[in-house]
Amino acid sequence: MTHRLDGLPERVTVYEVGPRDGLQNEKAIIPVEVKAEFVDRLADAGHQVIEATSFVHPKWVPQLADAEELLTRLERRPGVRYPVLVPNERGLDRALALGVTEIAIFASATETFAAKNLNRSLEGQFAMFEPVVARALDNGLKVRGYVSMVFGDPWEGPTPIDQVVTVGRRLLDMGCYELSLGDTIGVGTPGHARALIEAFGAPDRLAVHFHDTYGQALANTLAALQAGVSVVDASTGGIGGCPYAESATGNLATEDLVWMLHGLGIETGLDLDKLIATSTWLAGLLGRPSPSRVVQALAGKG
Ligand code: HMG
Ligand code: MG
Repeated sequence: MTHRLDGLPERVTVYEVGPRDGLQNEKAIIPVEVKAEFVDRLADAGHQVIEATSFVHPKWVPQLADAEELLTRLERRPGVRYPVLVPNERGLDRALALGVTEIAIFASATETFAAKNLNRSLEGQFAMFEPVVARALDNGLKVRGYVSMVFGDPWEGPTPIDQVVTVGRRLLDMGCYELSLGDTIGVGTPGHARALIEAFGAPDRLAVHFHDTYGQALANTLAALQAGVSVVDASTGGIGGCPYAESATGNLATEDLVWMLHGLGIETGLDLDKLIATSTWLAGLLGRPSPSRVVQALAGKG
């Protein structure tokens, strides 16, 4: 049964980050054939955008050191986009060699996280990204931008909105087609989400990427939709986190998001039963239950 609320989009694009944000934070190294099956199951459940992996330094994120092998194995389906994270030109070379057509760069809104996650200063990160974006665009790639720590940072406290807007606008001005606002440590609340989106003034260029550390991700997402955003990042099963920000826990679970969106009569193109079957399968391999409330409520009832 659906009950609509005024002022929401008819359709939402769910940008699935489980294979990248989810698996980058697992202690165990997941075999590459399991990753390939995970991505394929997500496509089968109706996902049209699946962030598959990262071409970052393999010593920084050993969990995704098999990026080349994964992309070689992956049967890329027509109509499905498989973006990858790329921090620098070395990462871009690696992605181009595998025929990648879409990348995402990831900036920090704060000085401390730029140092911890990218080994760069706040200003220095742009010098790293600029040639990546220029070359990617020359090669016909689509480039997404992320900005992390948009509400707060574990070392610096609350992040001023104008600081986030300054970093984010620089990524859009470089040529990113979309900017994803990352609440890396999940400290945001709905009014803050709305204020940030309004401060950018272009919700059609924005996506939201909320981690659920404080249980606010779904409420913040609803506030973002009401402010005009229609692209939402989520991870099947609610896995995820950043190895360089300890207080980062799982992403908004795709299943929790889809339950809310379908209840609101918003189209996603996703099959909730198939998503739940996939995250239950993955939880079995990871050795722990999914934190998603919707998965807990519905697993085994399909
Ligand atoms: P660095 O140590 O400063 O690298 O790391 P460098 O430029 O000095 O290069 C040192 C050596 O590494 C060189 O080799 C490079 O070739 C090699 P040498 O010449 O000495 O033999 N190298 C590479 N090798 C393979 N692939 C590469 C690469 N780059 C350099 N791409 C760097 C700088 C950016 C590479 C490093 O800090 C890094 O990889 N960081 C990534 C950290 C990360 O992946 N974090 C998680 C993703 S972000 C996130 O989760 C947040 C998000 O979800 C949004 C949110 O939640 O807010 C997106
Ligand atoms: Mg993240």
